[in-house]
Amino acid sequence: MNYQIALIPGDGIGPEVVGPATEVLDLIGDKYGHVFNYAELLAGGKAVDMAGEPLPKETLETAKQCDAVLMGAVGGPKWDTGPGNMRPEAALLGLRGGLGVFANLRPAVLLPQLRAACPLKDEVLAAGNAGGRSGFDLLIVRELTGGAYFGKKGRTEDGKAAYDTEYYSWLEIERVLRSGYTAAAVRRKKVCVVDKANVLESSRLWREVTEVVSKDYPDIETSFMYADNAAMQLIRAPGQFDVIVTSNIFGDILSDEASVLTGSIGMLPSASLGAVNQNGDKSATQGYPTGLYEPIHGSAPDIAGKDTANPLAAILSAAMLLRYSFGLEKEALAIEAAVNKVLDEGCRTPDIASRNAGDAASERIVGTRAMAGAVLKALEGCLD
Ligand code: IPM
Ligand code: MG
Repeated sequence: MNYQIALIPGDGIGPEVVGPATEVLDLIGDKYGHVFNYAELLAGGKAVDMAGEPLPKETLETAKQCDAVLMGAVGGPKWDTGPGNMRPEAALLGLRGGLGVFANLRPAVLLPQLRAACPLKDEVLAAGNAGGRSGFDLLIVRELTGGAYFGKKGRTEDGKAAYDTEYYSWLEIERVLRSGYTAAAVRRKKVCVVDKANVLESSRLWREVTEVVSKDYPDIETSFMYADNAAMQLIRAPGQFDVIVTSNIFGDILSDEASVLTGSIGMLPSASLGAVNQNGDKSATQGYPTGLYEPIHGSAPDIAGKDTANPLAAILSAAMLLRYSFGLEKEALAIEAAVNKVLDEGCRTPDIASRNAGDAASERIVGTRAMAGAVLKALEGCLD
């Protein structure tokens, strides 16, 4: 089958990590008989420079017509001083809003190979886990097209006061909750709604909606946690979490925190999905909103062009794309197995290198290109 993928390499390390992701996709295509066509689109700082705005109309229009969007990262110091609507980040928000991808799935898993890169003690990793298990495997489902990011914002006339509104409708809460429950159903069947219901009215509405929606998922355990406590619990007993469903801004913050626990922010992929295509349904490419896939790390301008960026989050984002937008589960698993294999073999970009000498002896520190090459090689071996 032929698939059309919108490619937005973006700024900083974006192009360096998206390149390897497409090489991985192409190898998958060759082996499994799919054709991935790419439409490279302009967004972010590069678009400000070349088209005078962060998200040119034709970028959004073309992206909407594609089956999925794979993105690197946008932003950099060069564009930091412009007004809000000319910042590269505006492209990201415009794409999320424009594509209607309200459910942002951010899995955070501690791979055993990266134990030494995780800053937590053994007893912390064991806490909250049943049956002597250790580590964590959690999924943050972040609401992505509402809340403070999209609510009414502005300044008073004299510019000396400013506001951003945390606004949520019942419908916005219900649909992202359903995404969370759907994800939990094929995991450990636990949903924790994270909010500040002790202070925020919008959070109290989240709880009200959860009380109603949770009735449709009787075999899934529902709990609530305040965001400040959740930030603490993540570094106290991360194993207690399965699926966390939360607002745009809390999800932004907690997913960065969770990423550090996996060893590096350079490891975390993400999928941003709209209404229907969340189960890898094969019909998902027909008529449903286009999914947006991106590593959760930013453009990291300080290491751009140095061949040190970790391409694994982008490669794993490509795996999520295959799974959620195209229903290609076997292909997604092959990519994930290949990533596992290169980590088994000791390949490490600097961000996931061990800090203690004992473990470091068995590791090989590689650059972006070499890491990508290792994944491609492993993929050849992993394919059936
Ligand atoms: C993320 C990023 C973005 C966000 C920024 C770059 C606008 O931090 O995807 O988590 O805040 O959503
Ligand atoms: Mg963030």
